[in-house]
Amino acid sequence: MTERDRSPDPGGPYEELLDALRALVEGEPSALANLCNAAALLYDRLPRINWAGFYLWSPRDRQLVLGPFQGRPACVRLTPGRGVCGTAWRERRTVLVPDVDAFPGHVACDPRSRSEIAVPLLRLPDEDPLGVLDLDSPEPARFGPADAEGLERFVAVLLAHVDPRALVA
Ligand code: SME
Repeated sequence: MTERDRSPDPGGPYEELLDALRALVEGEPSALANLCNAAALLYDRLPRINWAGFYLWSPRDRQLVLGPFQGRPACVRLTPGRGVCGTAWRERRTVLVPDVDAFPGHVACDPRSRSEIAVPLLRLPDEDPLGVLDLDSPEPARFGPADAEGLERFVAVLLAHVDPRALVA
């Protein structure tokens, strides 16, 4: 059994993950580097996931465009309001999908993915999100409310350390 296959500790992996994220991004002004390391951290530390990364909002194209990620190559452009990421972006809320086949409009980038969570990169409640953080798992119902809460905190720490103008796709 490898580190990536192990179950998360009972208290959840997010406290340590947040500390690790802070250590990586504090004092680093490159938004691109910080997003790259954030994706790598999630992919490395969270068990039973096959994809972790970002889609960034392009105001010019009115689409979500693939950003830094870890995993197999993925769909490049997503439409707001469609699929898991597009729904999280349009509705400005975390979307938990226990079964991707049961989610209307799910965009299948990696056939191994069985469940998914998408968290909007929301700085201010009445603004368009800067993008979406997306995680996929080969296990059904991999993500629950503790993951939603932990990943929303993860995004808040990250957004406090990136220049939003640098995140435009
Ligand atoms: N499944 C997503 C597309 C992105 S990939 O999972 C990396 C969706 O429905 O928006």
